[in-house]
Amino acid sequence: MTNDWLAGLPKAELHLHIEGTLTPEQQFELAERNDITLPYDNAESLRAAYEFEDLSAFLALYYQGMDVLITRDDFYDLAMAYFERAAADGVRHADISFDPQAHRARGVTLDTCFDGLLTAMRDASARLDVSSALIMSFMRDRDADEAAEVLEDAAPWYGEIAAIGLDSAEVGNPPEKFAAVFARAAELGIPRVAHAGEEGGPEYVTGALDVLNVCRIDHGVRAMEDPELVARLRESRMPLTVCPLSNVYLKGVARLEDHNLPAMIAEGLNVNINSDDPAYFGGGMVNNFAACVAAFDWDEAMCRMIAANGVRDAFMPADRREAVLAEIEAYMGA
Ligand code: ADE
Ligand code: ZN
Repeated sequence: MTNDWLAGLPKAELHLHIEGTLTPEQQFELAERNDITLPYDNAESLRAAYEFEDLSAFLALYYQGMDVLITRDDFYDLAMAYFERAAADGVRHADISFDPQAHRARGVTLDTCFDGLLTAMRDASARLDVSSALIMSFMRDRDADEAAEVLEDAAPWYGEIAAIGLDSAEVGNPPEKFAAVFARAAELGIPRVAHAGEEGGPEYVTGALDVLNVCRIDHGVRAMEDPELVARLRESRMPLTVCPLSNVYLKGVARLEDHNLPAMIAEGLNVNINSDDPAYFGGGMVNNFAACVAAFDWDEAMCRMIAANGVRDAFMPADRREAVLAEIEAYMGA
């Protein structure tokens, strides 16, 4: 199976941090525009620093990288560059998340973030026919009170937020810490997703289900350590947004061949695949699919199933969902 075939397969991406799409080249471009000096000579030496021992080591560079995002145009250009690459990868819809706290801590307002991102989302839909939805994520390694404040301050944009999410350093920051802010989002009628079971154990997944009432689990790979939880995830058809290359780059597994994704599929879990932070973890959706094809010997039918799973569980209008599912069927029949 060629990468061209994979690029032609219509797909949805459900787990994508827009700040994680910032390439070293774009980081230098925005640094220059904003008169910021980066602690690297050039994009090549920055890229060479992308060797991560674990999630925390990655997050340190990731948060440092986004310091170049200052203006509405920076957020617009960041998102539009992602949408262009995603379109070339056959992504027909993307649920993109952002970390408002990481920006507010640097003096960048919610208005700047929302204005740039939402305008790019509208333009991507019109110009590239890539639809999208916005997830506002909270950083679990910061105070829950701060997350609650962000949720209240985001009131003008509730109509534009598809869901809230929970990301950043997992271990030591369990879902229970965010029970109140997730309950408040539920009261507001805002859907909820959360990273769980990436580095944290299965109890983080159980907590996300029981306490945060999420409709999707981001990652979820360590759920496999708890058979009762696996049965629960299977029976509820809970979507798991697995990020294969991310797990390899953050050393969750030594090699993709060691990943439990095939076991998750064999257990009947509702998995889809995603790029997480494509600028840091070996590329976008085509690279993730191609890596799985190579590691797990996936055939075209398996790729179709995984792509359709993503489309079924993305935050998209029913008519758009049906249209993209039909595109997948037409592609397979062609
Ligand atoms: N933020 C960006 N990428 C992340 C990941 N893989 N896990 C947790 N938080 C993140
Ligand atoms: Zn993530």
